[in-house]
Amino acid sequence: MSRRPGNPARRLADGGSLPFVGSMHSKSRSSPILSVALLVVGAILLIGYCYSGSGGRISDREALSKAEGGASCTLEIQRSIPILKKAYGDSMRKVLHVGPDTCSAVSSLLKEEDTEAWGVEPYDLDDASANCKSLVRKGLVRMADIKFPLPYRAKSFSLVVVSDALDYLSPKYLNKTLPELARVSADGIVIFSGHPGQQRVKGAEMSKFGRPAKFRSSSWWTRYFVQIGLQENEPAIKKFEQAYLKKSFKPACQVFHLQSSD
Ligand SMILES: *[C@@H]1O[C@H](CO)[C@@H](O)[C@H](O)[C@H]1NC(C)=O
Repeated sequence: MSRRPGNPARRLADGGSLPFVGSMHSKSRSSPILSVALLVVGAILLIGYCYSGSGGRISDREALSKAEGGASCTLEIQRSIPILKKAYGDSMRKVLHVGPDTCSAVSSLLKEEDTEAWGVEPYDLDDASANCKSLVRKGLVRMADIKFPLPYRAKSFSLVVVSDALDYLSPKYLNKTLPELARVSADGIVIFSGHPGQQRVKGAEMSKFGRPAKFRSSSWWTRYFVQIGLQENEPAIKKFEQAYLKKSFKPACQVFHLQSSD
């Protein structure tokens, strides 16, 4: 994917104003026409400016309202793929997604060229779609209780992306699960988790997850990573931030980047 083009309003001004500069010299007496023309140009510039400026903000708002409405961080992954690609480049070649609704994440990852993807569904696949069942048949998606060791060899994947799942684990199980994610990944772990006070799972879904989600603050997570000896992946954090600022996209979930274990 290429760089975001420059400010469209500026480009409009460069290209669009030239004919009027010409007409100003040649027909300086036709001032009413000129002022109307200038007014039109002004209006176009203004519309262009508003349009380009509001793009990011609108999608932020949509994302936020979706999150408040109970949508998941797994959906955020689909929107974040271009940004993850910028931040992780080559490390996107073998991705394991871990989390509820993993079929949707795996399907979107598989659409990317040069990306192979697998999924672990921690809850159930009982009401899986036909597409999801086919991913299971192909061995790309499997169900596994992430409170226990994952059924993969060390460094089986270049990148592990986990969404929502950790919000349902107590620190006792996080202590088992996070080191496992670090073990099966080679180049890092990306964690998407809800913000404190964000979405609430409805009663019907509660039985599936076993316990209510607990959305921890960014400082809680940071302290926790230190406690269990996992390092944050500073270069990836920087690249991810740069990429999403450029696209005026702000993730509606918290995103953490950790190093894999050595
Ligand atoms: C998790 O692991 C850390 C570091 O080993 C330890 O200090 C902490 O007590 C553990 N938490 C639980 C709930 O077992």
